[in-house]
Amino acid sequence: MNTYDIIVSRRSVRRFQQKPIDLDLLKNFINAARLAPSAANLQPLEYIIVTEKEHCNQLFEALGWAAYIQPKWIPDSHERPTAYIVILVKDSKNSYYRYDVGFAAANIVIASEAEGIGSCILCNIQKEKIRTIFKVPTTFDVDMVIALGYKGEKPIIEERDDIVKYWRDEQDVLHVPKRKLDTILHVNKF
Ligand SMILES: Cc1cc2nc3c(=O)[nH]c(=O)nc-3n(C[C@H](O)[C@H](O)[C@H](O)COP(=O)(O)O)c2cc1C
Repeated sequence: MNTYDIIVSRRSVRRFQQKPIDLDLLKNFINAARLAPSAANLQPLEYIIVTEKEHCNQLFEALGWAAYIQPKWIPDSHERPTAYIVILVKDSKNSYYRYDVGFAAANIVIASEAEGIGSCILCNIQKEKIRTIFKVPTTFDVDMVIALGYKGEKPIIEERDDIVKYWRDEQDVLHVPKRKLDTILHVNKF
């Protein structure tokens, strides 16, 4: 697949096969994040790769999944992520740091997708619990977690302008509404 096809076919995946991801591959994803654009090139981000089973289990307890799906849903024990990347920020007083996190996360999820690995960005997270689990020093903030694993589901895009809430159908397939191109695109004037 070319880069454009990888980008447009990526969907957030919340069900995973239990096949481990090679550590060198995960390091490549961090390298892709390291080389992302950075405001004033301050590079305030650092990363924790989590693969060890006990740590994955502890981290899982600090994560919030798919808030639009009711009743409350979490991945079953046989479909949980097999790895995570925790994104830490060194100077969150730098007002541009969230852009840096966004670019770094984008690089990670696209690099993962290119390797056939599914991902889900998670910001509904218990940051202080995560700090404790991984002994993150107080000079850093825990900002985001990216769940990773070989894909165990294939979400479907719905071209919709009327809703933003994703849903699961009777077959448990995830449908993700996306605003139409014609609606959001303005050429030369609004
Ligand atoms: C900043 C950010 C925070 C997110 N936080 C969560 C989260 O806490 N839990 C979750 O299940 N998904 C989370 N997501 C995933 C979104 O729900 C998902 O991107 C959205 O539904 C669109 O689906 P898509 O990624 O397949 O295009 C987050 C995404 C972003 C960009």
